[in-house]
Amino acid sequence: MKVVLGVAGGIAAYKACELLRLFTESGHEVRVVPTRDALRFVGEPTWAALSGNPVTTDVWESVHEVPHVRIGQAADLVVVAPATADLLAKAAHGLAGDLLTNTLLTARCPVVFAPAMHTEMWQHPATRANVATLRERGAIVIDPAVGRLTGADTGPGRLPDPAEIFQVCLRVLRGAPRDLAGRKVVVSAGGTREALDPVRFIGNRSSGLQGYALARTAAARGAEVTVVAANVALPDPAGAAVVRVETTAELREAVMAAAASADVVVMAAAVADFRPADRQDVKIKKTDGEPDPIRLVKNPDILAELGRERGAYPKVIVGFAAETHDVLANGQAKLARKGCDLLVVNQVGEHLAFGTPDNAATVLVAGGDPVEVPRGPKEDVADAVWDAVAARLS
Ligand code: CTP
Repeated sequence: MKVVLGVAGGIAAYKACELLRLFTESGHEVRVVPTRDALRFVGEPTWAALSGNPVTTDVWESVHEVPHVRIGQAADLVVVAPATADLLAKAAHGLAGDLLTNTLLTARCPVVFAPAMHTEMWQHPATRANVATLRERGAIVIDPAVGRLTGADTGPGRLPDPAEIFQVCLRVLRGAPRDLAGRKVVVSAGGTREALDPVRFIGNRSSGLQGYALARTAAARGAEVTVVAANVALPDPAGAAVVRVETTAELREAVMAAAASADVVVMAAAVADFRPADRQDVKIKKTDGEPDPIRLVKNPDILAELGRERGAYPKVIVGFAAETHDVLANGQAKLARKGCDLLVVNQVGEHLAFGTPDNAATVLVAGGDPVEVPRGPKEDVADAVWDAVAARLS
């Protein structure tokens, strides 16, 4: 596939080198079109060497090849990373002062912008309006990640991890539907931990891979995504707002807060059903005799609570069920018991589901036929869930 990588003049331009490599190493033909300012951060030889293609910034070189029209026309995807406030403004207003902005006007393929800038610039009404205009016209604008910016300050404005931007682009190239545009979704991911003392906890093996695949695919299908991540050590999915929690109580609070205005809640997190009745403030020491038993108390069931107290929002509630035996029968019973619309059932055990990139599942649908998802990447399970969700929302 032919990819145009536009690079605007921001410090995050160096991260676009890694994005470029991901494209070239997976067999894509990449033409890098930096702005003049981008070359102050990363020079022309780097882009030319990594892409194997000539690199120009203005429309006055190789004029006989009409590059200001041809590059955009021939592209299967244009991705601008980083997209600065200035570049977004130019794109929104249709300015065409250099090769990149000309390319954006002549491209008829999908266009992805990955903005990176200081928080104040991202939140400025001018930038908000420009982003809204671009989205209205069908461009995909990935929300920047939250974190450390160029100086000591932190906030929304970081360029997402290049591997995550790459995943979004791959999905767009494959023609992912945009059927969740304008929808707000909440995905819980990972596994909660319940502390026994300051150094020990009761936890589970959930890695967050399935939850993050759900978040990534929902963002690529156009949704505004909040991930409530319980102890997940993975790069933030591009375009999703991530709320970090540790315990079931914290997960419940964050999910309920986000659910109040969400269209969809997917409870993919492995939630600890019990917690120690007493958390010790100091480390529990070895004793000579038998150890004291650990007394447990029940945690609230967040999914059941969502199902029970469903008001106008969320419209669709999705649960997960990890079963080691009688998978379908247990799943059907759980779907009814928890009052959700969909229940994704997968078989777990050693080397099954937890921590692996692959998964196989059955999506049970309240009042409908189950959907089998054969073993494959966790994105396949995620897409099957969003297919069923989109059908229910419409
Ligand atoms: N869940 C939840 N709150 C809990 C426990 C689970 O919201 N306290 C959610 C999970 O996120 C998942 C679904 O409920 O979406 C199913 O969880 P699971 O642990 O498989 O079901 P249980 O109700 O614990 O049933 P069982 O222990 O009988 O398998």
